[in-house]
Amino acid sequence: MSEHETASETLGEPTRRDFLYLTTGMAGAVGAAAVAWPFIDQMRPDASTLALASIEVDVSSLQPGMSLTAKWRGKPVFIRNRTDKEVEEANAVALADLKDPVARNANLPADAQATDVDRSAGKDKENWIVMIGSCTHLGCVPLGQAGDFGGWFCPCHGSHYDTAGRIRKGPAPENLAVPTFAFTTDTVIKIG
Ligand code: FES
Repeated sequence: MSEHETASETLGEPTRRDFLYLTTGMAGAVGAAAVAWPFIDQMRPDASTLALASIEVDVSSLQPGMSLTAKWRGKPVFIRNRTDKEVEEANAVALADLKDPVARNANLPADAQATDVDRSAGKDKENWIVMIGSCTHLGCVPLGQAGDFGGWFCPCHGSHYDTAGRIRKGPAPENLAVPTFAFTTDTVIKIG
């Protein structure tokens, strides 16, 4: 290569020097961009920070008996405005009959019991339930209002959850997890 360059220069090709100059200029521009990029990149939150972010979900359109699924930290979150009948059914179950008697509610102490109210959004909003939509067996997404207990059903290996998201039958070991959440207004739920 250097041999060619020397030959070209010696021959005095008029465009050769211009070409080299142009090439050098471009390399300089690329180099500057490569240096600038890491600085810009550092100013953006990285993926792990974004994954921790909380979300706000407008639930104003959910009448009793309606659900929606939000996405939070890469997982589905089931939000359901339960009917009175669903709440009554859940309250009618004796704690002794539960496979997992622990609330699994991130808003409560770790040893809180899996009563319906402690699985829900609380005494004044007991009809609302918010849960991570990930089967506690191997992580499939359960189907809503299905299964033997009218709650959620995971078809992967047949886990049945009741209307409070508590595991009642099948291989799943735990109730569906309740994430950290709060109503910020009457119609907005903040998750995380
Ligand atoms: S993943 Fe739900 S039953 Fe196995």
